[in-house]
Amino acid sequence: MRQVSPAAPRDDKRWRMVDARIRRLGNSPEGLIEVLHTVQEAFGYLDHETLAYVGNALGVPPSRTYGVATFYSHFTMKPQGEHTCVVCTGTACYINGAGSIIKRISSELNVEPGETTADNRLSLLTARCLGACSLAPAVVFDNEVQGKLTPDDVMTHLEQLS
Ligand code: FES
Repeated sequence: MRQVSPAAPRDDKRWRMVDARIRRLGNSPEGLIEVLHTVQEAFGYLDHETLAYVGNALGVPPSRTYGVATFYSHFTMKPQGEHTCVVCTGTACYINGAGSIIKRISSELNVEPGETTADNRLSLLTARCLGACSLAPAVVFDNEVQGKLTPDDVMTHLEQLS
């Protein structure tokens, strides 16, 4: 069995969720779509780094991982905003206020989930679970996971992104 590349940051629970799914599927190339679903649920999008990681772990060539990621409309490649804000909408986060966080960002910055602001400064995304449910509601600002946030906290973080 192929080993998962040690390049992934092991302290990030999102990667641990992806690794667990890869192992459950026996590192099989046939598991590509399922693993990409898990990546998107955890990160909110796919990017070149995650595609390379998944391809390496499953023994799938880059042309195929990239082809699958761009062919299926379900998959979202990382949007081009200067910053990304991924709001977790998994159950724990949702019942703890993720909906009002999204509403606030949308109304104040005039951006819907999956979109980037007109000035290209921020892309707003959602994820199904960041693996940090005890911190619900959780949001990832660029690559930093923050938890137990109110809509006010989130707006303050967004204002501070330089
Ligand atoms: S449901 Fe949000 S981190 Fe798990």
